[in-house]
Amino acid sequence: MQSTSQAIPLCDKDEGGASEMDGRTLLAYVSAGGATERYAHIIAETLRSRGHVVDVIDLKRDNIPDLSSYGSVVVGTGVRMGMVYRKGKRLLRRKDLEGRRLAIFLSSGIAIKSAEKSKAKFLEPLVEKYGLDPAMYDAFPGKMPGSGGKL
Ligand SMILES: Cc1cc2nc3c(=O)[nH]c(=O)nc-3n(C[C@H](O)[C@H](O)[C@H](O)COP(=O)(O)O)c2cc1C
Repeated sequence: MQSTSQAIPLCDKDEGGASEMDGRTLLAYVSAGGATERYAHIIAETLRSRGHVVDVIDLKRDNIPDLSSYGSVVVGTGVRMGMVYRKGKRLLRRKDLEGRRLAIFLSSGIAIKSAEKSKAKFLEPLVEKYGLDPAMYDAFPGKMPGSGGKL
């Protein structure tokens, strides 16, 4: 995944690893076709390899835990028919995200050609609408119908 290294802003800048101040990270994703799920696990492993304690939840299956025990939250979602998945948006709307380090990633077809276009079309409006201040947000190439499930 080309942009995995962009998860690094969630890590301590000098050490390249977690500090005690970072607390736990919640990585919550929603995926229909599997791309976001795959990215979620890659990002979780990357963060763990840098010393972060990461809890991964599938928003289709799991309840959102109490966010007060998390210093950082990563939200991953896909998009279909121009609509970012509802359960991803529901988490991004939560007021208790305030004061936590936030990262957002999106899997989308548009990002196969242009991550920037995908960010501008789907993520920037959400950041604006919900008044978010993410440490980073990015779009990754999704799976396209007929691709045989390949990313
Ligand atoms: C029915 C359908 C509609 C889609 N609509 C869009 C779209 O409007 N914009 C886009 O960028 N990608 C679109 N895609 C591509 C998805 O964003 C891509 O499959 C991505 O992997 C979805 O994330 P997920 O695999 O985690 O569910 C669509 C895919 C499908 C199957």
